[in-house]
Amino acid sequence: MRTVKAQLASAYVTTVRVNASQSASVETDALVVGIYATPDGPEAATGAEALDQALSGGLAATLAALGFAGKAEEVAKFPTFGALPAPLVVAVGLGDRPDGEPDLESLRRSAGAATRVLAGTATAAIAFPASSPEQVEAVALGALLGAYAFTRYRTTGEQKAPVGEITILTEAAGTEDVVTRATVLAEAVNLVRDLVNTPPSDLFPARFAELAEETGGKAGIGVEVLDAVALKEGGYGGILGVGQGSARPPRLVRLAYSHPEAAKTVAFVGKGITFDSGGLSLKPAAQMDWMKSDMGGAAAVLGALIAVARLGLPINAVGYMCLAENMPSGTATRPSDVLHTFSGKTVEVLDTDAEGRLVLIDGIARAAQDNPDLIVDVATLTGAQIVALGWRTAGVMANDDDLRDQVVEIAGRQGEGAWGMPLPDDLRKGLDSPVADIANLNPERWGGMLTAGVFLREFVPPGVKWAHIDMAGPAFNKGEPHGYTPKGGTGAITRTLVGIAESYARD
Ligand code: BES
Ligand code: MN
Ligand code: ZN
Repeated sequence: MRTVKAQLASAYVTTVRVNASQSASVETDALVVGIYATPDGPEAATGAEALDQALSGGLAATLAALGFAGKAEEVAKFPTFGALPAPLVVAVGLGDRPDGEPDLESLRRSAGAATRVLAGTATAAIAFPASSPEQVEAVALGALLGAYAFTRYRTTGEQKAPVGEITILTEAAGTEDVVTRATVLAEAVNLVRDLVNTPPSDLFPARFAELAEETGGKAGIGVEVLDAVALKEGGYGGILGVGQGSARPPRLVRLAYSHPEAAKTVAFVGKGITFDSGGLSLKPAAQMDWMKSDMGGAAAVLGALIAVARLGLPINAVGYMCLAENMPSGTATRPSDVLHTFSGKTVEVLDTDAEGRLVLIDGIARAAQDNPDLIVDVATLTGAQIVALGWRTAGVMANDDDLRDQVVEIAGRQGEGAWGMPLPDDLRKGLDSPVADIANLNPERWGGMLTAGVFLREFVPPGVKWAHIDMAGPAFNKGEPHGYTPKGGTGAITRTLVGIAESYARD
């Protein structure tokens, strides 16, 4: 049997730099330009004029001949036949011409759409309408996120490496910091994607914890791992109850980053089910094959802490990765078993497939002991989230309306879809258990995303601000790639967590 040890960073490195040269003269394998869609046909965006001149004003006609309209993320490639040093042009649609500045997310997505089609190319230059540092950052981030490939497990077939070196052509000054920030964020997101994409045979709780030690340690984060014995001693009955059916025991990883000038502490808690079979309440096969992604929350917490540390944000941040494999076996938790959780409360497990909330409550109750200014948990928690909001929009709930709105706003700024959801008090009654303090399931399934949130809220100590992000849909892209988002693990919500840390950091 061949075992592939799950590795850390991707085997590929894509770098970004900034250059002020004109698009027509740059030596590169591919020149990327932005094109707006207008009622009169495709129109070159700022950055593409020099190309148009080199083509003797023939850019719009060339695009029209290719049937290219300039719709958002539309891509066309054409050769330059020696008209300029770059042998290939990649035209990317930017959508309708905006009245003012181009929107940052449209720059990110278009840059990602470009780098996705540039796999196998050594160098590329992007001449987009990016005249401010924040626009340059958006282009850099989108380009780096689009230049992602997970090919570790392929031995045959097409294996193109992502584009190696990206040059952003811009006249903007003072872009070093934004390029660094984009690189740090992209590396964090791409690490999360690697972790989510890694098959569960190679990414189980102990191995995930080791990877957290290696990657977190390198970034200067303190990493503490509780194994099954320590979990037992500590009274973590939720995590243990979920993990006890697996041959591979659970872990709780505590990540800690601190800064000498920090005034505030944020705590992140991630659901890390390395595989969710459902347990004895077994899932149907069609809903099981992608449950390797059920650890996306814990991966996002790790990625975010690494980014926060590498950026040196003046804040204290703790992260909890609640790691377990949810499997059916002779030792598995049975429906009707009662767990003694870290909070002291007992939970009747009516459905072993509602396991995420069981590991999260131990993480949330433990995180509260760090006296954080807020706790944010992130989890692929409910299929009901996908029913309510679809694949690309996470649900955000909180015990404080301002905090909920703030999280939604921060996610929106990063271009991560998120929407505020209520925690209706009337849903609590459905979780009453005849034997324990609370049940993990409401037999009435309507509003399942909210019920899960209401369940979690019961374990947040009074006076502690808490928000919950359900990203069951956004964490994993079962469809085709789009913008800077690949198929498979997306790294969703990682950047939102970094954004939350930034907003609580000292200025
Ligand atoms: N990991 C699943 C939720 C999920 C579903 C994530 C689809 C990503 C895509 C979670 O553990 C689960 O099984 N939830 C149940 C809860 C139910 C039993 C109350 C669900 O949503 O069906
Ligand atoms: Mn489940
Ligand atoms: Zn799950």
